[in-house]
Amino acid sequence: MTDDTKSSNAMWGGRFAAGPDAIMEAINASISFDKRLYAQDIRGSRAHAAMLAATGILTNSDAEVIGEGLLTVLSEIEAGDFPFSTALEDIHMNVEARLKALIGEPAGRLHTARSRNDQVATDFRLWVRDQADAAITSLTALMRVLVAQAEKGADWVMPGFTHLQTAQPVTWGHHMMAYVEMFARDRSRFEDARKRMNECPLGSAALAGTGFPIDRHMTAAALGFDRPMANSLDGVSDRDFALEFLSSAAICSVHLSRLAEELVIWSSAQFRFVAMSDKWSTGSSIMPQKRNPDAAELIRAKIGRVLGAAVALFTVMKGLPLAYSKDMQEDKEQVFDAADTLMLALAAMTGMMSDLTVNTGKLEAAASSGFSTATDLADWLVREAGLPFRDAHHVTGSLVALAEKKGCDLPDLSLEELKSAHPALTEAVYSVLGVHNSVASRQSYGGTAPDQVRAQVARWKGLFA
Ligand code: ARG
Repeated sequence: MTDDTKSSNAMWGGRFAAGPDAIMEAINASISFDKRLYAQDIRGSRAHAAMLAATGILTNSDAEVIGEGLLTVLSEIEAGDFPFSTALEDIHMNVEARLKALIGEPAGRLHTARSRNDQVATDFRLWVRDQADAAITSLTALMRVLVAQAEKGADWVMPGFTHLQTAQPVTWGHHMMAYVEMFARDRSRFEDARKRMNECPLGSAALAGTGFPIDRHMTAAALGFDRPMANSLDGVSDRDFALEFLSSAAICSVHLSRLAEELVIWSSAQFRFVAMSDKWSTGSSIMPQKRNPDAAELIRAKIGRVLGAAVALFTVMKGLPLAYSKDMQEDKEQVFDAADTLMLALAAMTGMMSDLTVNTGKLEAAASSGFSTATDLADWLVREAGLPFRDAHHVTGSLVALAEKKGCDLPDLSLEELKSAHPALTEAVYSVLGVHNSVASRQSYGGTAPDQVRAQVARWKGLFA
């Protein structure tokens, strides 16, 4: 396989007589995926060149030619007619080689006081930072849609579940606001990760820093970082920012998957709580009655890619000694795919939730069945007849058994039947057996009462404003 006629690498081939084996080139090259970093790479190089001029390491005229040349490379890539080369390994060397072709000798001065190790760490940080911003924006859009759903249905009654068994009636708004809280935590995780990642590795050079009188504060500021990273070994070997992004994405993905799962259940023929709009469902080629929740199913499934990416990068990093190792090149595809998947899932969920039709009649009918107000009955016995809760639970249990035997629900039992279980039960108990009274009574902070839900909605609308 060895092709000895191939010339050695122009960027680092000084001591190499022959070029790499084709398979070596295939395993080594990252250009097929790291070309996505072109804008960050050029931005970083322009900041570096400007700093080299400001510190007198480069002449102003060289720096100017480099800066202009880099803009030309940028526009060539953006126009889609850039000849990416696998032999040039990665985005850094592709850009630099093209710069050399455009401006000649000054291009060779750009890499002064820099290494691909701090270059790639800087480029990737800039890219991940943009993705954290995008996640924050997308999560805010999703939360707004969920708050709007909650406001519309603050008093729609639905069954609340534990073990996916009817537990107690809750309100639609309450259920929606639960997800708002979850996605708000996700958003704050991205915000927090963004703050921590906002330090600049550029100027760490290969690992030890450099003897050139560079100004790392200048490049950090030019690239929108809060400060340069304080330790050059850490600067080139750290990928915590990517791990934190993936960890935040993983938790967020779990939330998206849980909501997707609810949509799949709720839209089934057995539930019919919700219907997806035509825009968000597909039909079956054989069964004309079908309206499938494909987007929800795919969100649920694709989330595995995000979780997998997190596991993959943790695995890459866990055995690496300081500082840079080539293993770290494996960070990018995982994060790219996880970010793409997350953004698509967030956008699809936002679209589905804003177009969702809620069948309030079905929700209420389901909430009213399955003895959902049994706890209300037990609470009534505690409150009105002074029974210990354990005894009230027992009495209610016997009434549930009776209703089950008769094939009816609790409010359908006669007063005599109620009294047969406990003489303290009176006509007044029927009021708490209705689902609306049940939810209205749950006024504890954060509870399901429509007033409480409206308070949550108002709080979030204030936070968005
Ligand atoms: N393509 C490489 C990466 O993504 C860039 C850094 C290469 N550094 C090196 N010393 N070979 O990690």
